[in-house]
Amino acid sequence: MSVPTPHIEAKKGDIAKTVLMPGDPLRAKFIADTYLENVKRFNTVRNMFGYTGTYKGKRISVMGSGMGMPSIGIYSYELYNFYDVENIVRVGSCGAYDAALKLYDVLLTTRAYSESSYAKTQSGDYDDAYTYPSDALNAKLEASAQALKIPITKGTIHSSDVFYRENFDDFKTIRDEHGAIAVEMEAFALFHNARITHKHAACLLTVSDSLVTKEATSSEARQNAFTKMMEIALSLAE
Ligand code: HPA
Repeated sequence: MSVPTPHIEAKKGDIAKTVLMPGDPLRAKFIADTYLENVKRFNTVRNMFGYTGTYKGKRISVMGSGMGMPSIGIYSYELYNFYDVENIVRVGSCGAYDAALKLYDVLLTTRAYSESSYAKTQSGDYDDAYTYPSDALNAKLEASAQALKIPITKGTIHSSDVFYRENFDDFKTIRDEHGAIAVEMEAFALFHNARITHKHAACLLTVSDSLVTKEATSSEARQNAFTKMMEIALSLAE
């Protein structure tokens, strides 16, 4: 397949080597409006906005991934395979499984656990319930957080196919059996796509709610308040 793809209307060269992916395309717009200069929008298909610009003079792109593994699976596959993207960093929100995590804490994913069949269905050769981020990207993100004096928590997260479970307390079993400290819905598939395309992926998350304490941030705050995580990720512009 060549560009444009069924889901991205950009031309070759319109997208930087590194792409930050929030779930929400309006958050992608917010990041472009707030942090980037010389911004050019490269995608509007399905309103899944994507932008390329410069951060402190260095090139970077930002694009929505949508919610869930089928959605990020499509976009990350097309970015890696057809647009020569090397690095994708998901910058998302998560629900805390661990009582020690507080709203707005920033997490760096070291492993994604999932019950999802995404990896096995996609490539047929992957039976593991875990996928992994790039060590090199994680090292850069950790160094960036340290330089910005932003504390981060590293750990295993759960990539779930389901937001509204009938049995709410099921999360405790997943937390205890897999050591998952938080839940989101995309990282497992993103890490798998990076593996099969020989590219790189990482996942930074901000805690937007807690399954333990049942606290939650508003959707408005979610769109605008995740600045610490964005600043850590934007350091990857090159
Ligand atoms: N569940 C799944 N994904 C999420 C959550 C959650 O509670 N919070 C933010 N992303």
